[in-house]
Amino acid sequence: MAETITAIRFSDYGGPDVLSVVSAALPPPAAGEIQIRHLAIGVNFIDIYHRKGVFGAPLPLPNGLGIEGVGVVTAIGEGVTSFSQGQRVAYLGGPPGGYATHRNLPAARAIDVPDGLSDQTVAALLLKGLTVEYLIHRCAPVTAGETVVWHAAAGGVGLIACQWLHAIGVTVIGTVGSDAKAEIARAHGCDHTIVYTREDVAARVADITGGAKVRVVFDSVGADTFAASLECLRPRGTLVSFGESSGPVPPFGFGTLGARGSLFLTRPSIAHYTADRREYEAAANCLFAAIACGAIAAPQITTYPLVEAARAHADIQARRTSGSVILLP
Ligand SMILES: NC(=O)c1ccc[n+]([C@@H]2O[C@H](COP(=O)([O-])OP(=O)(O)OC[C@H]3O[C@@H](n4cnc5c(N)ncnc54)[C@H](OP(=O)(O)O)[C@@H]3O)[C@@H](O)[C@H]2O)c1
Repeated sequence: MAETITAIRFSDYGGPDVLSVVSAALPPPAAGEIQIRHLAIGVNFIDIYHRKGVFGAPLPLPNGLGIEGVGVVTAIGEGVTSFSQGQRVAYLGGPPGGYATHRNLPAARAIDVPDGLSDQTVAALLLKGLTVEYLIHRCAPVTAGETVVWHAAAGGVGLIACQWLHAIGVTVIGTVGSDAKAEIARAHGCDHTIVYTREDVAARVADITGGAKVRVVFDSVGADTFAASLECLRPRGTLVSFGESSGPVPPFGFGTLGARGSLFLTRPSIAHYTADRREYEAAANCLFAAIACGAIAAPQITTYPLVEAARAHADIQARRTSGSVILLP
């Protein structure tokens, strides 16, 4: 029987105002799917790219948004044996559609979550924490004693990165948009802050590192920071360009990588680092272990009612938020 749900949908690409609240009928889960009733929903910057139609191939319209959540399994599709009704699960990835009271989800994206973690903590932490996990352990592994640059250090991903890197003995130079955010980043383990809206990032990084610069820069800001990020790298360093909050990285000459000292450049995505089920589960276990041992605390969370998703988007886009944003159904 179809379930009547409340969901956020959009029929045009554009600003937060394209999001509307609808009542819809959700069919039973298809083969290989589970149906869940959300307890908390993660909001991620990729949702904004989806809404604007600027990420990869634009989503077909009309569409839903949201690729992260925590919920209770309410129905099981044919062939699914690994989950049961009433079980609490979390997920990241799958087709957008998380901004809803209920949804159907490929069972392959669902994972069991430890009892000790609240719904809000998991929704605030899963996608962003697994992003940090793959970036610092598998994409560009960093080790104790190193210094790295992390842009948007007071953001959702950023505050988790500051804590995790600090816990493993990596010195973090974090960039932030304001003095207030600098304070928040420092309270989460960021060793040095640069207010990149008024300071010269490359000059400050050279100064902080005594001219040595850094081996790895993690850059999710894109257009506004790309050039400075290359300048912050020492020869044979790596630029991990994992987002474009300020817009896409402009075209640049490939030879720049050589001229600046045999640099590496990668544009990774969590989708590719969690596509394999065993890697996905191992990464989640690594994240949950980091929480259990206190390396990462419950993230700073701002909550919005599900029906106010447009306001959440407007605040994130205007750089008014720090830490993680979640929606409550
Ligand atoms: N590739 C992946 O696998 C992956 C996975 C997850 C997230 N990401 C990326 O990681 C980044 C962070 O994601 P998040 O969800 O945690 O978001 P977030 O960091 O909470 O929000 C984005 C932050 O970017 C900064 N920013 C700089 N210029 C901006 C601009 N012109 N407009 C808006 N924000 C700007 C702002 O911080 P300041 O005010 O301090 O500048 C803002 O708070 C996003 O770019 C996202 O796409 C990538």
